[in-house]
Order: sequence, then C-alpha cells, then structure tokens
Amino acid sequence: MPEVVRSVQDVIHWSEAARRADESIGFVPTMGALHRGHAALFETARSENDRLVASIFVNPLQFDRSEDLARYPRTWDNDLQLCERSGVDLIFAPTPAELYPGEQLTLVDSPVLSAHLCGEHRSGHFRGVATVVLKLFNIVQPHRAYFGRKDAQQLAIIQRMVKDLNLPVTIVPVETVREGDGLALSSRNQHLTPAERRIAPVLARALRFAIEMIEDGGRSAACIRAHVLPMFTHYPEARVEYFELVDPDTMTPVVRIRGSVLVACAMWLGSTRLIDNMLWCGTKERA
Ligand code: PAJ
Repeated sequence: MPEVVRSVQDVIHWSEAARRADESIGFVPTMGALHRGHAALFETARSENDRLVASIFVNPLQFDRSEDLARYPRTWDNDLQLCERSGVDLIFAPTPAELYPGEQLTLVDSPVLSAHLCGEHRSGHFRGVATVVLKLFNIVQPHRAYFGRKDAQQLAIIQRMVKDLNLPVTIVPVETVREGDGLALSSRNQHLTPAERRIAPVLARALRFAIEMIEDGGRSAACIRAHVLPMFTHYPEARVEYFELVDPDTMTPVVRIRGSVLVACAMWLGSTRLIDNMLWCGTKERA
C-alpha cells in the first residue's frame, strides 16, 4: 500500500530523506478520479525513478465554475487501488486548507501561453494550474515530473514555467491514452449520458481528419477548419467551443502550416466539456 500523507511538512521530510539516500523522485500530479491515462503516467514515472510520488488534490484555484468543482468526481478507494497497482510509494493528498492556509496572494501567470484555446475560455484556469504545480514541485522536490499530452496547453505552460523560473525538475510528456473508439480517457467522461458517450468520439475523429488533411499537403488552417467543422453539424447535441490549429510552443493560432502544428478542440456535450488534441510534427511543405 502506498503511504498516504496529508501534511506539507511530512512530504518535505520524506523527499529530503529520499534525496539524502541518493534516490531519484518521480512525481505525477493529479486531481484523482484516476483512470488508465493516469496509470500510463505512473508506469513511465515508475520505470525512470527510484521513488514515485502521486498527488491527489482537486485544486479549487483552477476551477472557473463552482458547479464544476462541486461535481468533480471523487473516487478515493479506486484511486488508492490504482496507485497501489501502479507502484506509487507515496500519495500526497492535502486538504485545501493545508495547501492554501491563507489567501494565495502570489500567483504564477503565463498570459501569452494562456491567451488562446482553453485559456481564452476558462479565465484564471492556467494561473491556478501553474500556481498549484509550482507549490507541489516545491513540496515534493521531484527530479522528474510527468504530464499527459492530453492537456497540451497545460503541458506547454508547465514546460515554460520550468524554463523561465529555472526550476530544477525535468518535465516528461506522456502520450494520450484513448478508448478503442478514439475517445481520450478523462475523469469527465463519466458524466456523459449513454447517448452523449456515443457522440463523443467525433472529437477524436475530427482531429484525425485534420491531421490527414495536413499529411495530404493541406497548409491553410482556414481551409482545414472549413472541411472539419461540418463533421460536428451531424450532432446538434455537440457544441464546439474551439477548433484551432496552433503553434505547439506558443499556443498561438497559425494561418499557414510551416512546421509542426497542434490541432486542438474543446467540445460541450450537455453539461460536460471535453478536450483533445493531436500533434503533427512533419516539416514537409507542399510544392
Ligand atoms: P488531472 O486531470 O487529474 O490529470 C493529471 C495528469 O494526467 C495530467 O498531466 C493529464 O494530462 C494526464 N492525463 C489525463 N488524461 C490522460 C489521458 N487520457 N492520457 C494521458 N494522460 C492523461 O491535469 C490535472 O489533473 C491538473 O490540472 C493538475 C496538473 C494535477 C494540477 O491541479
């Protein structure tokens, strides 16, 4: 069984002891409701480090809608079992009061990287993410930290934070884990009704279609969007919040594709918001 620690001080002591023993520490921050996507992060982290720490903390600072925070799934027993199966040594599961004993007056902001995509639609979200991740890094003091490509904008913001603030941690990206029909695993999938669940794979299909167009030589973002967006109109229940082609480093929209490009989409099904993305790394230019 993993050791469950609630206090900041206890994690700091644990981490200092591991470092004194010359053990490398891998860290996977999560909000719980763990699934095979999280398990893939644990597996990679387990194979690259002597010690493995997971955090489970539903971070109030990153929720822009209080109803979303209230209904975020909490599945503690299942999470504990998944951590045990994945070889997690220590679970840091603080209360909000432990991590935020007073008002958080110092915030980490990345305004350029959060100007588009999710950042544009979820005000303050990435400020909350970057702030909690920096706090967790300072507490856990990992050598390596693992983040899913599923949340590509989050990954880009954390990578840039580490670079800009000279944090002594290596960020390791992990590929998106999908269901057989392409739907990216997400804690939010469990909110979908059976009818919504049947519609949900259109998101991955639309991204895949965009990537195929690029592979076939398509270079105009507007043209690709114009071909892809009608795929959603078959499903009046699906409401596209954004479908964008952006530079994978700066997260700003591209007009013409010149190097690698990230195709990213957010879609509402009823009251559930799903996000997904695919990266094209090619450099081939159409003659
Ligand atoms: P959470 O949504 O629990 O995700 C934790 C990590 O799991 C993130 O790095 C996310 O990208 C990764 N992940 C989720 N679904 C995945 C999938 N299908 N395939 C691969 N990786 C996947 O992201 C957060 O929590 C929070 O914002 C956090 C970073 C913990 C800060 O509060």
